[in-house]
Amino acid sequence: MQDIFVKDISAYQGQEVRLKGWVRNIRSSGKLIFIIFRDGTGTIQAVAFKPDLDEATFEDAKRLTLESSLIITGISKQHPKNPNEYELNITGIQTIQISEDYPITKKEHGPDFLLSNRHLWLRSPKQWAIMRIRHKVYLAICEYLHENNFFRFDSPILTPNACEGTTTLFELEYFDVGKAYLSQSGQLYLETGIMSLGRVYDFGPVFRAERSKTRKHLTEFWMMDAEAAFVEHDENMQIQEDLIRHVIRSVLSECDSELDILERDKGALKAADAPFKRMTHFEAIEYLRAKGSDIDHSSDLGAQDETLITEESQVPIFIEKWPKEIKAFYMKRDPNNEDYVLGSDLIAPEGFGEIIGGSQREDDHDLLLSRMKAEKMDIEAYQWYLDLRKYGSVPHSGFGIGLERLVTWMSGIHHIRETIPYPRMIYRIYP
Ligand code: 4AD
Ligand code: MG
Repeated sequence: MQDIFVKDISAYQGQEVRLKGWVRNIRSSGKLIFIIFRDGTGTIQAVAFKPDLDEATFEDAKRLTLESSLIITGISKQHPKNPNEYELNITGIQTIQISEDYPITKKEHGPDFLLSNRHLWLRSPKQWAIMRIRHKVYLAICEYLHENNFFRFDSPILTPNACEGTTTLFELEYFDVGKAYLSQSGQLYLETGIMSLGRVYDFGPVFRAERSKTRKHLTEFWMMDAEAAFVEHDENMQIQEDLIRHVIRSVLSECDSELDILERDKGALKAADAPFKRMTHFEAIEYLRAKGSDIDHSSDLGAQDETLITEESQVPIFIEKWPKEIKAFYMKRDPNNEDYVLGSDLIAPEGFGEIIGGSQREDDHDLLLSRMKAEKMDIEAYQWYLDLRKYGSVPHSGFGIGLERLVTWMSGIHHIRETIPYPRMIYRIYP
């Protein structure tokens, strides 16, 4: 007999097959037992009909409980009313383990309970769907980069210095060397990579000791940093736009049933696959003030500002050309106005907020050095970074996508904590 996966069931219409998995749900009515069976690839209803089975098999089916593991054999049958749906008429059951008192039931559980049971919660349909979308988003990003001549260049996690300021660093003792830090972004290392490979990217966990208890912040999250030689500010944004639109199309075409499970508004996603808008930071502030905000021109944008800015837009919006005081030391200053830098934040629509931070980098050695001195950075620790501006410096740009932010938007869910298998937040590190 053929061992198959649920996802392939339609190819075995009328045949007897064997499946391995778990009981998602079970109910019985007289001579019938209905098992919602899942195997990781999908879910199918399996039906045990007493007159078709020997007594022992029917009794085995009866004893099954939520999340019991089993091997099931049966005949694949197309649903009489819905041709896209299949059922399994059970012919045999081999119980692997009976699960007792599975803690996650149909009743409403609070988020704290679910997070403490994250190791089990991951089996629930919505979590399953989100993890699959995360996987697709990850693949779609890599696909785009691969097709556009970016090479994977893995940056270190243990680092001697900061990338995104010293206020959010996780510190640790590194043997006799002294302090080391968990990486906040691989960007600075990627800048070394382009001088060898032209275009590079990394994709891995980064860490921010941020005391932000919001629905958009994790202390450990995954970032894809990309960097390209001879790419300037405008082209940098164009690459980001093309990449994000590729991701939207991949999710729409390959995660249809996952989006259904999450009741995601697919129309909103489709509408976002159109040319993105651009607005300078100055224009953004003017726009907010016209809407009644009292924000001033030297301010960073908060979550509510981001929501307000994108409120009337179906597509993401780039906020570009920021006041240099509120952006990182490495951003290139705007040649047309020294008070601004050529950085951009990409803000997703529907209130999902910033998903990408990027910029053209300062490629002039002396300008960079003076900016670093002004910020009282330890010049010696960054000598290697300054070297890039001494030996064949070129204009270059890059950006970093927060994977979980992007997955939150694609999935249309409220809180970022559901987009990573094991979320790390200020008050949670278990399990
Ligand atoms: O805007 P950020 O801080 O940019 C950088 O780190 C650059 N060095 C990236 C680069 O140019 N290569 O972070 C990039 C993105 C944000 O836009 C956001 O999507 C995500 O990372 N992010 C977070 N995601 C979850 N939790 C947090 N605490 C996050 N902080 C940033
Ligand atoms: Mg940012």
